[in-house]
Amino acid sequence: MLMDNSLFTSLPTLQTSRLIIRPARMGDARDLYEYCRDPEVARHVLWEAHASIHHTRIYLRSLLRQYRAGLPATYVIELRQERKVIGTIGLMWIQQDNRAAEIGYSLNRSYWNRGLMTEALGEMLRFCFHTLNLNRVEAQHETDNPASGAVMRHAGMRHEGLLRQRIYNKGRFVDVELYAILRTDCEGPHAREAEHGSHSP
Ligand SMILES: CC(C)(COP(=O)(O)OP(=O)(O)OC[C@H]1O[C@@H](n2cnc3c(N)ncnc32)[C@H](O)[C@@H]1OP(=O)(O)O)[C@@H](O)C(=O)NCCC(=O)NCCS
Repeated sequence: MLMDNSLFTSLPTLQTSRLIIRPARMGDARDLYEYCRDPEVARHVLWEAHASIHHTRIYLRSLLRQYRAGLPATYVIELRQERKVIGTIGLMWIQQDNRAAEIGYSLNRSYWNRGLMTEALGEMLRFCFHTLNLNRVEAQHETDNPASGAVMRHAGMRHEGLLRQRIYNKGRFVDVELYAILRTDCEGPHAREAEHGSHSP
C-alpha cells in the first residue's frame, strides 16, 4: 500500500505534554540559529554548524521546498510553554515499497537530558505507524554519541548492529549503531513498557 504524499505537504501538528512538532517556518530562523551554530550539537550530525543566520535561512528555505514537493522532511520541535523552537526531528528517507523510513533529530544543548527528545521520538514513531502506516522505522547514531542511543532505546527501538566506519563525517570515518522498531514491536507488551515504563521525563 503506497502512502499519500500530500501528507507531507500538510503534516498534522503533533503534540506531546511538553512539545509541539510542526512544519518549520521562516520565522523560526532565530531560534534554530541559536543552536545550529553550536559545534557540540553539530558534532554527531551530518550538517555543519551554521556560520551565520543567513545559513539557517537557506536551510529553512530548503525545508519549505521539500514540504511543497510533498517529500518527507524535517520538522521543528517547539517547547509549548516557552513557544520556542528548540530542535528538529524528521524523516531522512522513506521507502514506500518496503514501508520503511529513517528518523533523525537534534536539540538545543540548553535543553539536553530532560527527556525531551525521547518524548519527541515516541510521538514521531506513533505518527509513522498510525498515520503513515509504516512497518519499520530505523535510526542511527555514531558510536561515540551514546546519549542518542539512550533516546532510541527509551522510545522502544532495538539495537540491530554496529556498522563499521559506515559514514565519513567531519574528516573521519565513524562507526555507527543501527536501531530499528517494527510495527509489531509497538503492538506488543514491549511497547507498553516503553510508553509507560521506566523513563519518565
Ligand atoms: C542526542 C540528543 C538528541 C538527546 O536529546 P535529549 O533530549 O537530551 O535526550 P533525552 O533527555 O530524552 O535522553 C538522553 C539520555 O541519554 C543519556 N546520556 C546523556 N549523555 C550521555 C552520555 N555521555 N553517555 C551515555 N548516556 C548519556 C541521558 O542520561 C538520558 O538517558 P536517561 O534518561 O536514561 O538518563 C541531544 O543530545 C542532541 O541533540 N545531540 C546533538 C545532535 C545529535 O547527536 N543528534 C542525534 C544524531 S544520531
